[in-house]
Amino acid sequence: MRKFTGLLVGLTLVSALPLYAQTDEFVIEAGKPGARIQPTMYGVFFEDINYAADGGLYAELVKNRSFEFPQRLMGWRSFGNVSVRDDGPFERNPHYVRLCASGHTHKHTGLDNEGFFGIGVKGGEEYRFSVWARLPQGEGAGSIRVELVDTRSDGEQHALASGTLTIDSQEWKQYRLVLTPEVTNPKAALRIFLTSKEGQSVDLEHVSLFPVDTWQGHENGLRKDLAQALADLKPGVFRFPGGCIVEGTDLETRYDWKKSVGPVENRPLNENRWHYTFPHRFYPDYFQSYGLGFYEFFLLSEEIGAEPLPVVSCGLACQFQNDDMSAHVALGDLDGYVQDALDLIEFANGDVNTKWGGLRAQMGHPAPFGLEFIGIGNEQWGPEYPERLALFVAAIRKAYPDIKIIGSSGPNSEGEQFEYLWPEMARLKVDLVDEHFYRPESWFLGQGARYDDYDRRGPKVFAGEYACHGRGKKWNHFNAALLEAAFMTGLERNADIVHMATYAPLFAHVEGWQWRPDMIWFDNMNSVRTASYHVQQLYTMYKGTNVLPLTMNGRPVTGAEGQNGLFASAVYDKDRGEVIVKAANTSDSARSLSLRFEGLKKRENLTSGRRVELRSDDPDVDNTIENPSAIVPCETSFAINEGERVVNVELAPGTFAVYIFEKR
Ligand code: AHR
Repeated sequence: MRKFTGLLVGLTLVSALPLYAQTDEFVIEAGKPGARIQPTMYGVFFEDINYAADGGLYAELVKNRSFEFPQRLMGWRSFGNVSVRDDGPFERNPHYVRLCASGHTHKHTGLDNEGFFGIGVKGGEEYRFSVWARLPQGEGAGSIRVELVDTRSDGEQHALASGTLTIDSQEWKQYRLVLTPEVTNPKAALRIFLTSKEGQSVDLEHVSLFPVDTWQGHENGLRKDLAQALADLKPGVFRFPGGCIVEGTDLETRYDWKKSVGPVENRPLNENRWHYTFPHRFYPDYFQSYGLGFYEFFLLSEEIGAEPLPVVSCGLACQFQNDDMSAHVALGDLDGYVQDALDLIEFANGDVNTKWGGLRAQMGHPAPFGLEFIGIGNEQWGPEYPERLALFVAAIRKAYPDIKIIGSSGPNSEGEQFEYLWPEMARLKVDLVDEHFYRPESWFLGQGARYDDYDRRGPKVFAGEYACHGRGKKWNHFNAALLEAAFMTGLERNADIVHMATYAPLFAHVEGWQWRPDMIWFDNMNSVRTASYHVQQLYTMYKGTNVLPLTMNGRPVTGAEGQNGLFASAVYDKDRGEVIVKAANTSDSARSLSLRFEGLKKRENLTSGRRVELRSDDPDVDNTIENPSAIVPCETSFAINEGERVVNVELAPGTFAVYIFEKR
């Protein structure tokens, strides 16, 4: 395990000291604000991988609530006289269960739901149970008892909370009750018993359990701690719904946004490609309920203040998984897919009198969502991509000339396809090109200057998926986050061409992950923000409005030379009147930096300063559920003497620091 062994000098700021031989001098041209930093610059990318949606952000606690999994009772344990039927009230989810008397007064009929790795409940909190039900025999009254149970308890009772519902109609109706467990249990189950007095059977469909306390209190809501973690990132853009799930293993299982809107009860189940992508981490119960659908994604974007960026299928199924062209939509048959993209724009922005704008209004949001961006295709490659993309570009430009279109440069950060696709994207005049890079330490250290020489006349860059994957260390750890921070100085210095960047993946359930590292981990009760999260957050919080020219030891900072282990960028925030310098010390030794501010007018002063540091003594560890605050930003402030233009700082090894100076 590598430790940052250099001199761990507590970071001190000593103004106006002479430079020492080893001091690196940064000159910040504080009076020359340059390229505008886009409000979208740093954002988040959501994909339903690692149980990020069902079992994660989407707060539904019941798995297979509509009995539509291919094994109809997967996630359920039935007992007594339970049968599955298929003529239910919801056309696209026709299955439901019939609970009939067991035939003996001392025998019971019912079923337990195991939730996602259990059902996590908190003592004293309210949980809303709802179910669609009817009396198939049409007479009398039926009833069910609903319980939250701990079947592993050695106590007197299994039930943590219980309630009874009377089913009083032969028509399908929704019934609800609120359960309030007295104690916390991360691995409870939901139990439903038939309790009808006179042997009445009961039909049940869309069995649901949500915490009442969801993000913003929405009923079909999101888990509060996870949504709050997104809001706290203050993201500029929110890309959804993926990733590979946009493409699907086959076209049938691609993410089809039209299936994800309208009443939740009638959103059909979709297979999640991540359940079988990696045989070494196989999750055969991983499906998408579409309960977290495009309406919810747009709403969340609005609530966290991010520009929504939906991505739609371009008619190519996942190219990693399909060599045969017959797996994809033929060029001549793409009309429906192109129409889906146009309809999506109407859903987001259209007048309430339009078909799709009307649906948005019906769902609760008459005002447009103000969509400005759309991604067409995820990691596509080969000539089959641009020839399909061209049809989308033509149709979108014609109907919605102001919408910005995002194309793809394929799955790799360089190489043949990347070289082929960038000119193709320029030819098709897309507005931004999505680049992906899951790369090792050496790549991140060597790519500081990646964007310095990009053609400024073509499309802009969207670094849509990236994360440092340590060689032999594909888990979250501080050094990976540090290198991401170092690399991001290059994004920032090139903000004239890099308009968006989103780390990936976003979420992972500790018991259900397929891919790591990830930005936010969670179990059924808690979540943890990794060091990579904190890096992202420091960039969003201190992104500034304009890039400032920066030199190091007399030469423009390009990132090319890795700055001897030092990476830096400088920005000005004209709204807050702040000059901000970010620096990452990736080396093993402490560094003395001299920050010299030039170009300030005579009457302008740096009045006060703050520094926020992120560091860890052990580069191989990260925050965990058990120890969520091992690596957190540490902020201190310091005074600056009037007229001072030079600030000297010590930057400890393995540290990312943000220095914020108020300019008055
Ligand atoms: O983020 C995980 C996957 O990585 C995404 O689904 C895909 O776009 C990329 O290959």
